[in-house]
Order: sequence, then C-alpha cells, then structure tokens
Amino acid sequence: MTGAVRIRPSRGGLRGVVGVPGDKSIAHRAILLGALADGTTTVSGFPGGADTWSSIGAARALGARVAVDGTTIRIDGAGLALGPAAPATIDCGNSGTTMRLVAGLAAGGPGEVVLDGDASLRRRPMARVVEPLRRMGADIDAPDGRAPLRIRGGALAGIDWTSPVASAQVKSAVLLAGLRARGTTRVREPLPSRDHTERMLPAFGIAVARDGHTVGVTGGRPLLATTIPLPGDASSAAFFVVAALLVAGSALRLAEVGTNPTRTGFLAVLARMGGRVAVDGARDAGGEPRADLLVQAARLGATSIAAAEVPGLIDEIPALCIAAALADGDTVVAGAEELRVKESDRIAALEQLALLGVDVRTARDGLTIRGTAGRPLRGARIRTGGDHRIAMAFAVAGLLAPDGVEIDDPACADVSFPGFFDRLRDLGAVVEAA
Ligand code: S3P
Repeated sequence: MTGAVRIRPSRGGLRGVVGVPGDKSIAHRAILLGALADGTTTVSGFPGGADTWSSIGAARALGARVAVDGTTIRIDGAGLALGPAAPATIDCGNSGTTMRLVAGLAAGGPGEVVLDGDASLRRRPMARVVEPLRRMGADIDAPDGRAPLRIRGGALAGIDWTSPVASAQVKSAVLLAGLRARGTTRVREPLPSRDHTERMLPAFGIAVARDGHTVGVTGGRPLLATTIPLPGDASSAAFFVVAALLVAGSALRLAEVGTNPTRTGFLAVLARMGGRVAVDGARDAGGEPRADLLVQAARLGATSIAAAEVPGLIDEIPALCIAAALADGDTVVAGAEELRVKESDRIAALEQLALLGVDVRTARDGLTIRGTAGRPLRGARIRTGGDHRIAMAFAVAGLLAPDGVEIDDPACADVSFPGFFDRLRDLGAVVEAA
C-alpha cells in the first residue's frame, strides 16, 4: 500500500469471519529461541510483518539458517554457540522487540554485532536493557543509552534484576542472556508483563522458575528444537474488535486469536464499557491459549484505565481510544507514560482525535477523552508518524466518519499487519486513494 488512503464507513455492519496474522510478539521469541536451539524448529502462522522479518534477519546474522515457506518458518539453530563468525551489523528496522531481545542474545555468545534501526528505533530508550546486561558482564556501547548498540559477546554471570519498568522486552532480554550465563538469572517486575518467553522456554526443554512477579532461568543448558503454532495476534484483532463494536449492525467472528491473559486486558476494558466479546472454542496449543472472538455492535460507555492494567493492554490503547471517542462519557487513561516511548509518542499522536471533533486532553502519563455518545466523527487527515498502530486505530475511526479519515502513511501498518487495509475493504469499508 503506497500513498495516502481515505477510509469511509461501510454500507452495513461488519459481518463474517476474519483471520488476523500470527502473533508478532510470540513469533520474535520463536525465531530467536529457535536460533539458539539445537535442531530444526518449525513455526506455523508466521505473520510476515516487517518486524518479524527483522528478527529473521537477526537470527541469520547470528548464524542460524532460516527458511520461510508461506506462513511456515524453519529455523536450523546453532545451539548455545550461536554468534556471528565475523562482526555483523543487524538492521532491526522499526522493531524494538528485535533490538532488545537480540541485545540479550548477542551479549552472551561469541562475536561482535552492531544493532541499528530506523529513525524511530534510534530514538527509543535502550538503557533499560543495556544496564542489566552490563551488570551480567556484557560489553556494550550505547551512545546516550540509544541505538546503535555495539555488543562484544562474552561470558556472563547470572544476576537478580529488579526492573524499574514492567517490560516484557527487558525481562526477555535478560532471560535470553541468562540462558548462556553462569548460574541462575532472575528478573522481577513491578507489574506482570506479557509472559510469552516464560511459556515458550519449557517447549525448548528449559525449566523456568516463576514466583509472583519474578521469573528465573539457569544458564548453560541446551535448548532442544520444537514446533510452535502461533495463535492470531490479539493486538491486531483488537482493531477489528473495536470496529465491530462501533459500527451498527456488525457481527464479526475473529478466528483463532491468542487469549493469553497477559494480552487480553483490552477485552476486560471493553466489557466494562458495555462491549461484551464472546470467547468460543477455547483451546491451548504450544502453551498459548487461543479462541474465536465473537463481536456484536454495542453502545459503549466510558471507563477508567488505571496504571495496574496498563502492561496488559499497552499496545491496544490506540484502539481503545477510538472506542472511547464514540462512547458516552469521559474515559481516562492513566499510568501509561510508556506510550511516549513506543514506535511514536502515542499520547501526542492520539491528540489528533481533536481533528475528528473529539474533546481530548493529554497528560504526561495518559489522556482523557470525552466520547461523542455515538455522534459521527468529523473527517480529517491523520499523520501516523510512521506508527503502525496509530495508522490502524485512525483507520477504524474512519468507519465512523461519513467524510472519511485520511491516513498519510498506510504502508506503516505492514510492520505488524500486512493486508490490514485489504481486510477492512473485504468487510465493506471504503478504502480509496486520498
Ligand atoms: C513486546 C512488549 C511490549 C509491547 C511491544 C511488544 C514484546 O513492549 O509494547 O509491542 O514482544 O515483548 P515493552 O516490553 O517495552 O513494554
């Protein structure tokens, strides 16, 4: 998708069955742990977004062989000796998960790498991973705590690390380093973040000790290749869940979406707003639960999202803010200052709701949105700042704006959800060149 697009409302509701790409967060972990394992790991449901390709590039640069066939990936791991034969520069693109997890992986192996990324990634904080890795003995240069990171791999020692931020990327970076460190590595977080790494390690034969908000691994044990079936990405599904709740007459089934409780906080928030989503056919595969989500249009009321909930729905806040924009009353999001250091400053980006005629006030750590109680939105042109979730959230707003919402850079959605605009069109939305 090149050039700006305008999204306008569909003629009727959004109806039918939609599949979403495989989970990006779990895919990164499967690729990187597969690279560190002995043998061939098979991953099905590969989402194909640019971010996950960045992790494939990193795995290859570190010495694993990766073959992609449609939505199936095969990773021939290099085992615990994983590391580049010659100094390598790895382009992590827009992917914070690639950069932070690979930092942990590269710190404990042989060889030297430089991790770099696009302008957005070069602005994002890396000290949160560099600091614990240095405590483990890692040799890392990080000018101003930011990328590019130069990492000279070597022997590490396990640590007990209390992370000041609830971040699955920090937790996973330290645990990945811990897999090759001497002794046991433990990470404690202030609030529980997504637990995909902890769930996946046992499938590779690695014992994980979990105790409250603390998780630990012991280094030096070989990982054994496995098979990982990715569920649909709940964060991608969230845009269609919100769309179907908001567009009158909708009845949508989202097939086989991941329902890991550390990722489904947005469903609890929507339920509080009066948008109940039914969960059908729940099952577990590879340690990750999944189910179909059944969504029907509903009138939504306002709610408050508190700090304790934020790690469980951080990526869904842009979509939730579109729900809030149409709800009845003032929705308050607090304790979400992490939004300022995502792919863009998402609090600043969401101020553009004002262009749609929505009363929005921002704070350092969140925002307050006065919903229109169902009154249609004004048409406007939105600047995504290259942020995939901002593009998709405002595209959903276009379904409620008779004059349409223009998205200046729809291609950025490909970072996590290639084909997003086609699927929106398949559901009856008008998606036209702007
Ligand atoms: C992710 C963790 C979250 C999330 C990001 C993906 C992961 O970031 O926002 O999109 O895969 O571990 P933080 O770890 O920075 O909270």
